[in-house]
Amino acid sequence: TPSFETVLVETRGAVGLVTLNRPKAMNALNAQLVRELGDAVAAFDADDAIGAVVIRGGEKAFAAGADIREMAEQSFSDVYLADLGAAWRRLLDCRKPLVAAVSGYALGGGCELAMMCDIIIAAEDARFGQPEITLGIIPGFGGTQRLARAVGKAKAMDLVLTGRMMDAQEAERSGLVARLVPAERLTEEAIAIADRIASLPRVATLSAKEAVNAAFESPLSEGARAERRSFQALFATEDQKEGMAAFLEKRKPQFRNR
Ligand code: CAA
Repeated sequence: TPSFETVLVETRGAVGLVTLNRPKAMNALNAQLVRELGDAVAAFDADDAIGAVVIRGGEKAFAAGADIREMAEQSFSDVYLADLGAAWRRLLDCRKPLVAAVSGYALGGGCELAMMCDIIIAAEDARFGQPEITLGIIPGFGGTQRLARAVGKAKAMDLVLTGRMMDAQEAERSGLVARLVPAERLTEEAIAIADRIASLPRVATLSAKEAVNAAFESPLSEGARAERRSFQALFATEDQKEGMAAFLEKRKPQFRNR
């Protein structure tokens, strides 16, 4: 495993675990962290032994947003030329399922990072928000788009326009968070979910992620067409034969990711 300064990388069986590691700055997402996170996720995506990835922060903060210290004196040209889009693209291009384990603050770019993941698991003390407006800017890593899709226009406007935070319970009620767990069990639960995904037939899990994502990137008819094609294509896999045979024979399937 490669080593980085701003993220820690470990494996737990077939699960890749990435821990954001700038605790003194509440895991503020500076350019180095975003690049290292992209590299870490891309490395797990390329590793056949890994079936899913968990991204977590610290106890107090998942991530408190883009690094305000880094941005404060930047001009339009600085921000435009430094564009972190390419680094984020590496995360968005990950074909394996990404689970965000959120405790404490997930604000600004931190909330946006969680929303770039496929499943958000939150500790009961988690707080989500897009406070950019209070700094004279707006979300810049996809927040307005993904939040609106996740929680609808009313709450997205409320959060983006006022900069207020929502607690974990509200985030779960609103559909942003998949599961709420006690803080002390957060990492364990997130790894259990990722481990469960990693134990399932790989061609199917990657296809499923692609198909659900198509719901957000295409009209319904186009998404449904892509889904149908993937569904049909899975009948070309050995794991489909094995999964269905095992069900009928009332035994455990032996998946080979083929
Ligand atoms: N950037 C840089 N440093 C940050 C930071 C950030 N986003 N968030 C926290 N820190 C630093 C603080 O400056 C402080 O550093 P020092 O010890 O050197 O003073 C340290 O982390 C601890 O923070 P606080 O003392 O503020 O801790 P707190 O418990 O009182 O408050 C908090 C926690 C509510 C998260 C508060 O730190 C906060 O409001 N942070 C900023 C949140 C924010 O506005 N995020 C949006 C950033 S803009 C963005 O993300 C743009 C985008 O979409 C691309």
